[in-house]
Amino acid sequence: MSATRIFSGIQPTGDLHLGNYFGAVRNWVALQEGAADTIYCVVDYHAITGGIDADVLPERALQLAGDLVACGIDPERSILFVQSHVPEHTELAWVFNAFAAFGDLSRMTQFKDKSGRAKHVSSGLFTYPVLQAADILLYLSDGVPVGEDQSQHLELTRSIARRFNQVVGEDYFPDVQTLLTEGKRIMSLADPERKMSKSLGDKHYVGLMEPPKRIAKKIRSAVTDAGGEARDELSPGVANLVGLLRLAGEHAAADQYAEEAKRGDLLYGHLKVAVADAVVAMLEPFQERRAQLSNADLRDLLADGASRASAIAKPVMEDVRRLIGVGARSINR
Ligand code: TYM
Repeated sequence: MSATRIFSGIQPTGDLHLGNYFGAVRNWVALQEGAADTIYCVVDYHAITGGIDADVLPERALQLAGDLVACGIDPERSILFVQSHVPEHTELAWVFNAFAAFGDLSRMTQFKDKSGRAKHVSSGLFTYPVLQAADILLYLSDGVPVGEDQSQHLELTRSIARRFNQVVGEDYFPDVQTLLTEGKRIMSLADPERKMSKSLGDKHYVGLMEPPKRIAKKIRSAVTDAGGEARDELSPGVANLVGLLRLAGEHAAADQYAEEAKRGDLLYGHLKVAVADAVVAMLEPFQERRAQLSNADLRDLLADGASRASAIAKPVMEDVRRLIGVGARSINR
């Protein structure tokens, strides 16, 4: 069954990169063409679980919203807003804390990864997927376009919804579908066994708004294998580069390079130039559009997005309060 309402979110924690784009954002743009409503959110309340920086967070949220618009999110067709501007997200997250199983949360691999790296492991980092479930279900969304790393969080969203429905005795929240793409897992350039991520450091990712020269340099420095030997399967670094070339639209060239690499006669320098050229060409219109967007316009469109999001969120939250017996209306009944 196809989804009727699409929701997805992204953290304002740094540059938007090719992993975000091919794994999620490109699909967000494509889904605007379909019949479903599309709601996209810059999730600043998620970002604070990794540390507080009050001076830069609002700037990053605004920056990211601008980057999303530049990539093709159309604020007329989609609702684009910042999570904290609609306070029902955190209210529903608290309610969901009563429905999420501690055991399920303990199995979240993202928590294990992130808590291993963090100096201060906040309990917000642990309950983070509960807030994510609230983001999605606050809009009664049933389709969530994300990269593969979010699949486990969406399974938790489904179990929270089912448990809620069972406890209140009503089929209130829908079953959420995970919408993955061909680019569901883009790997780091410098360490192709790990997924591309801004938290690994600058050389690991390509930012969508980076100057073309820097992009070309990063791709030229990508880790491959020594080459020169026939092999059945591409090594992770070469597979990632070929995949990027294909995702950037160069299908025939990608097939050809993959064959040459398997035969052992591909010059990796050629592959890297082709990838850099294709990526830079793909990003050029985004970078041009980004330069046209003013912060004043972005602030206006985010205010409009928040009020459209609120109009959906408020009645849902009112229903939830009634169904679980809290809130002024429940006591005055
Ligand atoms: P975040 O901000 O880490 O990433 C945003 C989106 O980009 C995808 N992504 C990737 N896809 C493919 N390859 C990669 N290397 C790669 N890196 C990132 C992510 O899967 C994601 O779709 N918890 C979420 C944000 C969130 C959310 C939500 C998402 C909060 N609430 C509700 C969906 C619905 C996160 O941290 O994504």
